[in-house]
Amino acid sequence: MSLSCSLLEKARSAEAAGLSGDAFRLGFHLMPPAGWLNDPNGLCQFGDDIHIFFQYNPLDIAPGSTNYWGHYTTRDYVHYDYHLPALCGDSPRDENGVYSGSALADESGITLFYTGNVKHPGDYDYTLAGREHNTMTARSTDGIHFDHKQVLLTNEDYPEDLTLHVRDPKVFVRDGSTWMVLGARSKADVGEALLYREDPSGHWALANRLTTPGPLGYMWECPDLFTLGDATYLAISPQGVEARGERFNNVYQSGVLRLTGDPAGDAALTDFTEYDAGFDFYAPQTFADARGRRILIAWMGLPDIPYTNPTADEGWMHALTLPRELTVEDGRLCQHPLAELTALRGAKRAVPLEGAPVETPQDERFEAILTNSDPQASFEATLRGGCRLTYDGQVLRLSFDACGCGRDQRQRTIPGVHRLHIFCDTSSVEIFVNDGSTVFTSRFYPEKPAPGITLSGMSGQLDYWPLSSFSIRDLSAKEYENV
Ligand code: FRU
Repeated sequence: MSLSCSLLEKARSAEAAGLSGDAFRLGFHLMPPAGWLNDPNGLCQFGDDIHIFFQYNPLDIAPGSTNYWGHYTTRDYVHYDYHLPALCGDSPRDENGVYSGSALADESGITLFYTGNVKHPGDYDYTLAGREHNTMTARSTDGIHFDHKQVLLTNEDYPEDLTLHVRDPKVFVRDGSTWMVLGARSKADVGEALLYREDPSGHWALANRLTTPGPLGYMWECPDLFTLGDATYLAISPQGVEARGERFNNVYQSGVLRLTGDPAGDAALTDFTEYDAGFDFYAPQTFADARGRRILIAWMGLPDIPYTNPTADEGWMHALTLPRELTVEDGRLCQHPLAELTALRGAKRAVPLEGAPVETPQDERFEAILTNSDPQASFEATLRGGCRLTYDGQVLRLSFDACGCGRDQRQRTIPGVHRLHIFCDTSSVEIFVNDGSTVFTSRFYPEKPAPGITLSGMSGQLDYWPLSSFSIRDLSAKEYENV
């Protein structure tokens, strides 16, 4: 049996052994069928299908050994197909992990770009010695079976003053050329992004090294470069950024830098702004769909966290966030839950708010839009009994009781709250504040039945819907037969 067949066989047995179906499985978020999930990868549209790949280890719930790319497709973000893993670490250039990357779809197929992780056995620090980070591709003509692995770049091709940590290729087409950004850690422990351009012969040449005027962490993971309206952004997930007041409170950050000037010339990076203000958001990736929307999906989780996820005891960890559309409003990057998600809505309740306490039914999964007619007034909301959202006229604060499993509080100073758009799933919450100019994303694990929302102090209107779950077809068993 070839190595790839035996790795796929192992994944299949782990998935077939299945999970017992614990109370925290999510309804409308993508999860690993078994084991561990981290970054979303390879987001793209091929024909009518949206492809969503993810870092996956069905064999374990430990980070750092993601030897598979898991794979979902959808046409409407509500009905999904689950496929056999698209990649596994079956070659000498990726034998210790098919790490994060991206996809380019064309008329005849999809090319995946990813990092082949290799760790040589020995007494190495795995930063300056003992590791390979190879930039690789794999190709599929049916969008399901990927092969023809090729190595595009190895550590020998990257600049000499970098450590061996150079990964997460994000490939995009811009001004008629194909470009790639890679995240990197320098030997001086400064994060940066490498910008490569493909020449007509298929050779990738370094076009620029992008970094901030002063260091922003020691390593930039998962870079992404895109233009929205008049603004160009370099998104990064930096490691090693110190907390500063209410900003940068998670172990690692993710956000955007404004890029001005020519990305391949006099580029300048300024104004690092976090994507999210909650506890569980990292390594996002974006893509442009056929309608021209810039859609973001992130890992609803982080590595090396001081808080916990009780799903580990059930054999699975983590999920992806809701897909979100990005826009720029008044110079600020905003996130909006995709319009397609309204298909999950059940019967609507519209409740006028006059400051007095209001309580909704005990739904585990719901969506709520709070339209606040007095944006500076204090209010207090409790979601599913244990997630508190309070506003004192200046600071919007998210906090948890024991159901946060160590998640204490996060906050943002906001001069007025005029709208809150809330999505609560079985064990997650996403709160879009003021049309998505601030977002709080978090896991939490409520055990007792409680009202969806208990709210007091707000005037205006509450629109509330119980939500149904995604429908997911498992096509992987059939696809395994054709491997
Ligand atoms: C980010 C990350 C990437 C890497 C991948 C490995 O969470 O560390 O930099 O490619 O996860 O799973």
